[in-house]
Amino acid sequence: MKKTVVIYCSKYGATKQYARWIAAALSCDLLEQHTVRPDDLDRYDTIIYGGGLYAGGVSGIKLLTKNADRLQQKNLLLFTCGIADPKDEDNVKHIRQALNKILPLQLQNRIQLFHLRGSIDYKRLGLVHRMMMAMLRKMIAKKDPTTLREEDRQLLATYGQTIDFTDQSSIQPIVDAARNL
Ligand SMILES: Cc1cc2nc3c(=O)[nH]c(=O)nc-3n(C[C@H](O)[C@H](O)[C@H](O)COP(=O)(O)O)c2cc1C
Repeated sequence: MKKTVVIYCSKYGATKQYARWIAAALSCDLLEQHTVRPDDLDRYDTIIYGGGLYAGGVSGIKLLTKNADRLQQKNLLLFTCGIADPKDEDNVKHIRQALNKILPLQLQNRIQLFHLRGSIDYKRLGLVHRMMMAMLRKMIAKKDPTTLREEDRQLLATYGQTIDFTDQSSIQPIVDAARNL
């Protein structure tokens, strides 16, 4: 198999867990996004990038957007890790719409996308993230309950708790895609 790396950006550990599982399954290198210099990317044929979702954005994605030219000849796989259920097509649509706004066209056309489900532990959130979640909850709570999406209902029901949807078996499509390159 070609030389492969999994690069991740994870604030509370869910994306890191998935990145570790994928790197172990593929027996490939594993790097944390903030340690990667652009030159490091040249060593690999296949780059699997994983980032946590924060307010619709993929953390650390600048590594790909800023190095689009350097990535031109590489196999690219991107996985997101968020609390919203990727089995809900609307959630995937939102994630992809946001990604299309920031990924240069030359990457959009070639990158394979995957969406995994993460975890949240309100007790561990930093101040800014705690405030963001509190504001989101307030906004959702003001809406007509009959118009709420399933994700919004879940947020209200689980707010303040620890929820963990990480699932090792969900990496399989990524592992298969990397093996089939
Ligand atoms: C402030 C904040 C914003 C978030 N925004 C989103 C979001 O837009 N979509 C989503 O699916 N999950 C969202 N999440 C949930 C995280 O994506 C989830 O906790 C994920 O597991 C984080 O991965 P990490 O621990 O590897 O950074 C948010 C969490 C926080 C604290």
